[in-house]
Amino acid sequence: MMEREKFSSRLGFILISAGCAIGLGNVWRFPYITGQYGGAAFVLIYLLFLVILGLPVIVMEFAVGRASQRSVALSFDRLEPKGTKWHLFKYPAMAGNYLLMMFYTTIGGWMAYYVLKMARGDFENMDAAGVEGEFGAMLGNPALMTGLMVLVVVLGFVICAAGLQKGVEKITKIMMISLLVLMLALVINSLMLEGGREGLEFYLRPDFGKLMEAGLGEAVFAALGQAFFTLSIGMGAIAIFGSYIGREQRLTGEAVNVMVLDTIVAFMAGLIIFPACFAYDIQPDAGPNLLFITLPHVFQAMPGGRLWGTLFFIFMFFAAISTIVAVFQDLISFATDLTGCSVKKAAVRSCLAICLLSIPCVLGFNLWSGFQPLGPGSTVLDLEDFLVSNNVLPLGSLVYVAFCTSRYGWGWDRFLEEANTGKGLAFPRAVRIYIKWVLPAIILFIFLQGYVAKFL
Ligand code: PHE
Repeated sequence: MMEREKFSSRLGFILISAGCAIGLGNVWRFPYITGQYGGAAFVLIYLLFLVILGLPVIVMEFAVGRASQRSVALSFDRLEPKGTKWHLFKYPAMAGNYLLMMFYTTIGGWMAYYVLKMARGDFENMDAAGVEGEFGAMLGNPALMTGLMVLVVVLGFVICAAGLQKGVEKITKIMMISLLVLMLALVINSLMLEGGREGLEFYLRPDFGKLMEAGLGEAVFAALGQAFFTLSIGMGAIAIFGSYIGREQRLTGEAVNVMVLDTIVAFMAGLIIFPACFAYDIQPDAGPNLLFITLPHVFQAMPGGRLWGTLFFIFMFFAAISTIVAVFQDLISFATDLTGCSVKKAAVRSCLAICLLSIPCVLGFNLWSGFQPLGPGSTVLDLEDFLVSNNVLPLGSLVYVAFCTSRYGWGWDRFLEEANTGKGLAFPRAVRIYIKWVLPAIILFIFLQGYVAKFL
């Protein structure tokens, strides 16, 4: 078997794992979900879940990826004890990766379109109704949205087809660093907005009363989904990057780096968006369009706003593309691992598949808008997102936990040995009882009560 292509540097690995983690989940999903569930109190629960549930699961995914040297399409086949059926998990996991891309690419397309609109100065001197109207006009145009989606999909696969080091690693590195710098500048601008204070309070001062209003059970379920979504855990999407690194570093340290970077970006996105909502009188619970109806105002009011706005959407687009490229990398390895075909062939076929599969999400906003699967006003996007974030990711994480702690799976000792090979922060042996029993119990409980709260 040939050695797998490796990343050229540790920074490259951290940034691409962070690139996979940091994406629309941070800049688009985090602010709008936080807005829907009442702000700071929700953020606290989300942060807690990141640390007590998310962090151990990323370490497990990296460990399974590094030990098996395979994507989720083959990692369980390689590590499972003879005669067991863990490898069947590949099917829901691969389906989850596809399902994610089926709506993610559409939002990636919105970002691309907003780059253009900003650069053209479309929003200059527009009032709130006008800005919302522009967004609505885009949603109402299936041809435009399809074109944008296809553009994003093709671009993603072109980057992947260029190969791991030349394509994925290089591009992600540049994109992530530029994103961090630009966001910092926008945070400073937003903190100085007149009338933005109330937004900061909404975002940073916990008010559990508000959380109760939104429904505690549902909010906790949403926080779980967001924590897993933002870290990309539960369906082997991030595991694969464990298969591209050597054994010099222990995995817990790497996981902490990824989590911290991811959280910084989400936190900054909130700092940019919430003061702006309050300064320009936009409801923070507007939903998936929140980013697109608040930010044009910010830029309109800023000196040089057209340039800033264009740059902002370019980097948001980068954040989306870096995640898309990372997940496409997974889709391509599913195909190469399972059929042994070449990377180019795998890329072309997966590209076609994703283009077709992404159509329902696009049409859900216009031709099929009568289909409202999760209640009035909901769309295909909401359904696909719910299936991935609130089902595949938490349940898939349970599979990783069971696999890494059960003697009928890979087992605790082997997991620990892999995770703790190298230098850096060790995964503590003492937390075994917590990881094996408490952590899955928490996930399962939140999952079950989430269904009750949401649907009964
Ligand atoms: N973490 C990514 C984001 O925040 C989304 C993602 C979820 C990617 C699951 C892969 C797997 O945008």
